[in-house]
Amino acid sequence: MIAALVKQASTLNTHTRYLHENVVELAEIIASKMPGELGVCIFVCTGTEANDLATRIARTATGNKGMLVSEYSYHGDSTLVHTLSTADSEDRPDWLSLFEPPCQYRPAFDGDDLLEDYVGSVHNAINALKQKNQLPAAIMIDSIFDCPGTIEAPKGYFQQVYKKVREAGGLVIADEVQSGYCRTGKWWGFAHDDVVPDIVTLGKPMGAGHPLAAVVTTPEIADKFANESSYFNTFGGNPVSTAVGKAVIDVIDAENILENVARIGAYTRSGLEKLLEKYDVIGDVRGRGLFLSMELVKDRALKTPDAIAAQQMANLMKDEGVILSTHGRYENTLKIRPPMVFNQDNADQLLVALDVCFGKL
Ligand SMILES: Cc1ncc(COP(=O)(O)O)c(C=O)c1O
Repeated sequence: MIAALVKQASTLNTHTRYLHENVVELAEIIASKMPGELGVCIFVCTGTEANDLATRIARTATGNKGMLVSEYSYHGDSTLVHTLSTADSEDRPDWLSLFEPPCQYRPAFDGDDLLEDYVGSVHNAINALKQKNQLPAAIMIDSIFDCPGTIEAPKGYFQQVYKKVREAGGLVIADEVQSGYCRTGKWWGFAHDDVVPDIVTLGKPMGAGHPLAAVVTTPEIADKFANESSYFNTFGGNPVSTAVGKAVIDVIDAENILENVARIGAYTRSGLEKLLEKYDVIGDVRGRGLFLSMELVKDRALKTPDAIAAQQMANLMKDEGVILSTHGRYENTLKIRPPMVFNQDNADQLLVALDVCFGKL
């Protein structure tokens, strides 16, 4: 990746008013990995820009303004996207409506059918928009809801939610900034649920540290946007960034990173589940691939969140040479996101360190 960067940087870099084959080639490679009609890429520099542009595209394509996001979401930091990041922002304009993330460990509803209740929460969010004379332009949704604590939806949830939003005239924006690029053991997080979004946003791993992100959509939606609006980003998708982007995908494919994430992710998760049997402070283990978390509690039966234990564990683990952080609606979840080249020895090192630190805790 560094060689690709150096080679292109010492040949030519320019903004994307000038077409360059790297831009086209990276777009074609990404499109080849996407399902359905998702064949148009617009390159930007950050996940925030991708979500900002995706919102503009959805609003232009549908003529609606309303946006649906989950409680305790994070989608980025521009003025618009900060408002869509309900974990950080308290701004609730008329065009915004919130639904409950589909947490199965701490159900937000006490009915018999959790799936129905969580889909109902999206339905209610659409109705709440209508009461304010708004219609949904889109739902912006994670495949694994990271910010509220690595929440995995019950089976069938995404199919039903996609259908509801589309019936109400909105599009589905899958925020794959974190769950994309093999992180969950499939190329795209949404692929676990057999759904095809209308717009996908990508970021974080796309440039393996180099600022590169994208919006991917269908030709039909892209055309509607292009006919009414325009977009220019000086650095987004420049020839150097797109050379890096191509090299990242070459490395993922050549080094079987996808297979590695699926295999080592399953191995790591089963190790975490053994720790769950051993230590009462662990209330739940969640996640797929190398997108994993452990929720810590003071009391297993009452599920009382233990944010202090999570903070202490992160510090104890740092002393063992393993960097974790805490997150979640109650700040009591240990966030485990190893690099995707993580191997079995690395996983063992993590699991032994966790065992030592839970013992100390
Ligand atoms: C799910 C998700 N979407 C969007 C973003 C924003 O990406 P960036 O920090 O590149 O603007 C993040 C960053 O943490 C994220 O986790």
